[in-house]
Amino acid sequence: MEQNIMLGKNIFWVGKVDDRDVPFHRLTLTKGTTYNSYLLMTEKPTVIDTVDMSFGREFVQNLNNKIELNRIKYIVINHTEPDHSGALGSLAAKAKNAVIVCTEPAVNELKEMYRLHNREFLVVSDGDTLDIGGKILKFIQTPYLHTEETMITYCEDNKILFPCDIFSTHVANYEYFNDLAQVDIKEDFITYYKLIMHPHRRYVQEMIEKIKDLDIKMIAPSHGFIIRDEVQSFIDIYDNMSKNTELDKKALILYSTMTGNTKKIAGIFKEKFEEQNITSNIIDVNKDAMDNIMNAINEADAIFFGSSTKYGDMIGNMEEVLKNLKTLNLENKLGAAFGSYGWSGEAIEVIQDYLNKTNLRSLNTSDIIKSTGMTDIELPLRIRFSSKEDNLKSIDRIVTYTSDLLFSAI
Ligand code: FEO
Repeated sequence: MEQNIMLGKNIFWVGKVDDRDVPFHRLTLTKGTTYNSYLLMTEKPTVIDTVDMSFGREFVQNLNNKIELNRIKYIVINHTEPDHSGALGSLAAKAKNAVIVCTEPAVNELKEMYRLHNREFLVVSDGDTLDIGGKILKFIQTPYLHTEETMITYCEDNKILFPCDIFSTHVANYEYFNDLAQVDIKEDFITYYKLIMHPHRRYVQEMIEKIKDLDIKMIAPSHGFIIRDEVQSFIDIYDNMSKNTELDKKALILYSTMTGNTKKIAGIFKEKFEEQNITSNIIDVNKDAMDNIMNAINEADAIFFGSSTKYGDMIGNMEEVLKNLKTLNLENKLGAAFGSYGWSGEAIEVIQDYLNKTNLRSLNTSDIIKSTGMTDIELPLRIRFSSKEDNLKSIDRIVTYTSDLLFSAI
């Protein structure tokens, strides 16, 4: 570990620079990344976030060179994804007196991931503070930046924001601070924003509102450069881009329903897309003119096709819509099939067959597993009779995945 990289009095960078090609969320980070962890050497020594699991042993050994691990009083975990919490298991095993500080949704994840069921946790909520003996930390919940349980930590005494994924860059570097960087980091900063944060831009706006009254002299994120020069200009990038409607994407949900169950699923898709700030339109293909339907498909970035199954087939005008797809150029669009059924649900499979013959990118579980390793997305989506709580979670995962794909293509 590089020695004495200091952010302020008694605040040290204790992370890891990863200059490999790093696989990350369906991407390869060709510039590598860093996993920034911070040690606050106060009367109650505190570590903020750790590093990727693959560097856990090295991280703990290096940290042990700076501090006797049993002295660590708190380990703050802002975000449970393993590129930040990955060394928690190794660290907690050595730092036996440390209390783990995180949000309520993070507790079970960390207990299960790192077998910490018997460990002491301190659960913090929005606005809570913690006296670490010489400094006060304030916690601000920032859900979905990047995942549900995420929070950011603000050190009031040094006016440093520790926002984990937020305000990060994926660049392996040994300059650490943006004012020492050899190149302008803003392009990488914006690329990171578009890929990771823009799908959640509604939450970015909520986060900006929460931090707007903080006096922030430095941003110490968990990837890439620590920002201590032109701090506000980086916050403004997030503010402006999360308001930017030019990057809007559109979803279209087409359905043909027999008893109303498929219509209900279509409505849930619409709601979930809107929660992701994706403009969504819903059309009953039996009640709108074919020209209007084709125009709507042309204008959409993601199109979901749903039908009930009756006598082993689709119902109403859905098949005519699917046949007409060959008249459109669907390149760069996403498509998926769904439907409610009672017995075998053949209609859903037939829709999928049609989609597979077009040039849109048809989403299905097999391809998703093969390309991403994600096993919790069921597509085509088959729902027996009416949707249940489990189905809502499935739809949520599908929409989040689709949203990520749409904005990955920015
Ligand atoms: Fe850097 Fe959401 O992990």
